[in-house]
Amino acid sequence: MDMRTYSDRALAIQPTGVRKMFDLAGDDVISFGLGEPDFQPPAIAIEAFHQAMLDGRNKYTTTAGLPALRQKIASSWEHYQTGMDEQNVCMTMSGTNALLNLFMTLVNPGDNVLLPEPYFPLYGPDATLVGGEARYYPCLFEDEFIPSVESLESIVDENTVAILYNFPSNPTGGTLTAQQRDELLDFAKRHDLWIISDEVYDRIVFGEEHVSFMGTGYEKILIVNSFSKTFAMTGWRIGYIISTNLEAMKQVIKIQYYISACSNDAMQYAVLEAMEKANDYPDMMAKEFQQRCDLIVDRLNAMPGVQCHRPKGSIYVFPKVDVEGMTSEEVALELLKDGVLCSPGNAFGPSGEGHLRFAYTISQADISRGMDKVEQTLKRLQQG
Ligand SMILES: Cc1ncc(COP(=O)(O)O)c(C=O)c1O
Repeated sequence: MDMRTYSDRALAIQPTGVRKMFDLAGDDVISFGLGEPDFQPPAIAIEAFHQAMLDGRNKYTTTAGLPALRQKIASSWEHYQTGMDEQNVCMTMSGTNALLNLFMTLVNPGDNVLLPEPYFPLYGPDATLVGGEARYYPCLFEDEFIPSVESLESIVDENTVAILYNFPSNPTGGTLTAQQRDELLDFAKRHDLWIISDEVYDRIVFGEEHVSFMGTGYEKILIVNSFSKTFAMTGWRIGYIISTNLEAMKQVIKIQYYISACSNDAMQYAVLEAMEKANDYPDMMAKEFQQRCDLIVDRLNAMPGVQCHRPKGSIYVFPKVDVEGMTSEEVALELLKDGVLCSPGNAFGPSGEGHLRFAYTISQADISRGMDKVEQTLKRLQQG
């Protein structure tokens, strides 16, 4: 084979393992596999999208995006950080796009980046794509999925340029207390690291306020956010990067130009409309997700060999599921045979082994039906 046909970076990455189960699943399964809200975007945003197109908003925008939307986003962070405006925000074409931008903006070949594990499966390949090295820190069940500073200290070195935090977490549902956040912040400060904080689930939190890295006063923080989860707009592909660091934002915006020139013109008006007129929409979704979360956690914890934390945010539970002699992938395959789709924990990294991820993005009735099946399957496997 001619090794020069494709770039080293293309050859260095693999398709994500998370979709493997999907490809095996039939149409009639109860699916806990999908990491996207089962809601539609607010109707008012869909109408505004349509109207914006009719009004001729079908053109390039400035790279950083519609100033009124960026201003609105900046002020939506006001209770964490005052004094920000449109200059602190760059629109992107999704959280995924924002992450790639930040790896391109911050990481040189040979640098390493500290990443959570179990992880959202894009992080490692993003590091590889920019020539960096992914170094994983474990977020373990025993520690409520919060990394220990000792484990971080044991992998950081002089070539570490950034650490990525993701709370609320996909896949674990882990969230931080302010004290835990401050310890993670101090670690980054001590080593002069950039913090890439993926906070795309910041509006899907249960009861307690989201704990952000915004407003902590450290100047090397860049926050990734997205409207995929906030307004159930996964298919729209719109997100943003926000930082108090204007010098960093200049670099981010420069890179964004070469990634996508700008975001989608009409869609930005639609998101602005949603922020202005449907700001309680995420709270409505979060309430429903919380009920589903309670339901699924209660059901799982009543099953033999299953232990599940009760997340305070996100749309996932990540229970420990013990079936003697079986890997999490084997258990997931047995569940699939019985009509339930979930993701094996090892799809999110080695610390995920022994776990399953269930996304509670289906109705409470379907969750109950699905949990009946999971219970039966686990009983059968444990007897066998
Ligand atoms: C933790 C996390 N970050 C980022 C994203 C990317 O979201 P999007 O590209 O849809 O904005 C997701 C999507 O599932 C996610 O779970």
